[in-house]
Parts: sequence; structure tokens; C-alpha cells
Amino acid sequence: MDDLTGLRLAAIAAAKAQPEQTFENPRVGAVIVKADQVLAVGWHERFGGAHAEMNAFHHLGAARDAQGATLYVTLEPCAVRGKVAACAETILDWGLARVVIGDLDPNPATHGLGVQKLRAAGISVVVLDTDDSRQLNPAFYQYHEQHQPYIQLKLAQSHNGYVSAVRGQRSKITDAVADLDVHRQRARHSAIIVGSETWRIDQPRLTVRDVVLTHQQPQRVVIDRRGRLAHEPAARLKDWLVYTENARFAQQENVVLMSAGLPGIIADLGRKGMQYVMVEGGPTLMRSFLQAQLWHECLIYTADRLLANGVSGIVLPQLPDDIQRIGHTQRQRYINQEVATCLQASRKPLVV
Ligand SMILES: NC(=O)c1ccc[n+]([C@@H]2O[C@H](COP(=O)([O-])OP(=O)(O)OC[C@H]3O[C@@H](n4cnc5c(N)ncnc54)[C@H](OP(=O)(O)O)[C@@H]3O)[C@@H](O)[C@H]2O)c1
Repeated sequence: MDDLTGLRLAAIAAAKAQPEQTFENPRVGAVIVKADQVLAVGWHERFGGAHAEMNAFHHLGAARDAQGATLYVTLEPCAVRGKVAACAETILDWGLARVVIGDLDPNPATHGLGVQKLRAAGISVVVLDTDDSRQLNPAFYQYHEQHQPYIQLKLAQSHNGYVSAVRGQRSKITDAVADLDVHRQRARHSAIIVGSETWRIDQPRLTVRDVVLTHQQPQRVVIDRRGRLAHEPAARLKDWLVYTENARFAQQENVVLMSAGLPGIIADLGRKGMQYVMVEGGPTLMRSFLQAQLWHECLIYTADRLLANGVSGIVLPQLPDDIQRIGHTQRQRYINQEVATCLQASRKPLVV
């Protein structure tokens, strides 16, 4: 089997990982091949769980089968002990002949270290610089390469483009089937942002429901420039992170003074370790994110139902990159090609 075919199989395995389960960890796949036979396949299944290489190893008939085999893995084996032991150390005991890696880890703390450890132990290592890992993990690459979160905008609208039937009132736009998809989207995010108007009107919980989580709930964030929420009971803002330009309000716990607009908020969330940020409206705040080019992808859920009147949604000046039918709702996914450096094929020199 040639190396690109082996890596392609590993990428197919990686794509089986559900982003709502891997959360801030990358989706990684691995296959173990010997004498042109695929002996085992594995992928990283959930945040904090075994890594892809380990899952493949555990699927071998016997541990000794790995002796003299080639491991294909989409992302460089980790070199730093985290929630699990470092793979680049564990796999030294397997007796592998070769390790073929799709891409180096973009995390500066471990970039290249896995390759170094394997080579130092006498294992032949090839890095082919394929872009499957980047395509599968845009937020992971964005965060580690640009030191900024990946931003997903999301809005639900009626068939005729309204996000709410009456100004000042909450309207249910999507059905339970589409809502489950939204909860799965939420589950992959480190933080979810809403505008102050949505916070006041909808009083959203912004929690992940109906999805089994093995990681924490996303951090709930509200942007309240003027500080209209300053007099809300403290219990209502408990566990929320508030950004405001109101210096007095900013003296309260969990309230941050924003001095550099939306880019400043995004930078601050990045410093707080938030890798993947979702903006769930309303349309005013979303237009501001769009105008500032502060977005990587946008999901618009368009329900089949019509509303007679209401609050208008947003119009994106580009075609969707992907359209999916989810029950009685159409989900359109737009990718911002202007800023999606995380999705561009890497042009790093090959490490051979
Ligand atoms: N269907 C859906 O998916 C969906 C989702 C969410 C909400 N909604 C509906 O949308 C309506 C509310 O939306 P909305 O558009 O009126 O309000 P919104 O977007 O929720 O909130 C607007 C507020 O966000 C802040 N903001 C806007 N741009 C900003 C910027 N560049 N920098 C900092 N802060 C900024 C402003 O606060 P300041 O005024 O203090 O400056 C502004 O008043 C409600 O009816 C709600 O039910 C629908």
C-alpha cells in the first residue's frame, strides 16, 4: 500500500469522529498496516479519551502484530503528557517499523516534538504534509496558528427571512429535529455569544441539551455595550461572561470592560483559551460580526414555515458552500473565504 492511500484511510477514520464529542481536541484517525493488510483502525472518539493511535492499537488481534508494521496517522502523535500518556512515547514499545504522519501538530507546545521522539528511538518517520487534518479541524488550526478562536455564526429564520414574529418577543422558528442539530453544534463550542437584546428578550439558556457530553458546557457570553443588564439580579447573570463599555458595570464579577470592540472580545476569549466560539444572534450583533469580517463560517437554518411579519434576519452576499435538509428545515453553511486561513492548504516545507 502506498503512503498516500494509507493516510487517506486514516483520514476516513478521522472523519468518523464527532466534533461534538472531540470538542477542543482534534479529530484524528489512525490505521496499522502490515504486508499490505489493514490490521487495525482507530480514531479519537471523545475529549479526554484515548487517542487515535491507541484505539487502533487496541483493535489489533494481538499486540505483537504491530511489530514491523506501519502506523498511518493524520496528525503527529502527541509528545506531551496531557489527559492521557504521550502517544509518541507509548508507541515506542510496539515495535513499529515506520510511522507515516499527515501533518505536524499546529500546537506550538508540541509541534515537531512527536516526530523527534520517534526518530530518536530509531523509528523511520515520514511527514507527507497532507491537508486532511486541517480540513477536519479548522478551529484547532485557527486557534493554534492564529491564536484566535474560530467563529461560527448561527441564525434561524422563517422561510421568508424573519428571525422573530414580533419585535420584542421570542418566537420559536425551528422544530425539535433542527433544534437537536443546533445542540450538536453548541456541543463542539468553547463559548456561545448573544447580543444584549437577545439576552433580554429570549432569556436563552444556551446550554447543550439532548447530547451526551463528556466535556464542560460552553461558556455563555453576552455583549452588552451600554450596560443595560447592570441592574439584573446577580443570579440571572451567574455563570455568564459579560462584555460591556460601561465602566461601572465592569466592576462586577464576570463583567469585562471592552475597549477594542468585537475584535477585542474575540482576542480576550482566545486568551481565555476559547478555541471555538459560536455567535447565536440576534441579527444586529451578527451583522456587526459580518461587517468586521469576524467570522469563519455561518449556519442559517431556514424553516419551511412562513411568518406574516417580524424582525428581519441577515443576507449573506455569497452562495452557501453546503446545503443540508434537516427535517422541515434547510441548513445552509457559508464559509468565509476571505479569512479562513485555517482552511487553506498548508504550504509548509515537507519534513522527510
Ligand atoms: N432566530 C434566531 O436565530 C434568533 C437568534 C437570536 C435572537 N433572535 C431574535 O432577534 C431579536 C433580537 O435581535 P437584535 O438584532 O434586536 O439584537 P441583538 O443582536 O441580540 O443585540 C443587539 C445588541 O448587541 C450589541 N451590539 C451590536 N453590535 C455590536 C458591536 N459591534 N459591538 C458591541 N455590541 C454590539 C448592542 O448593544 P448596545 O445597544 O448596548 O450597544 C446591541 O443593542 C429578538 O427578537 C430575538 O428573539 C432570533
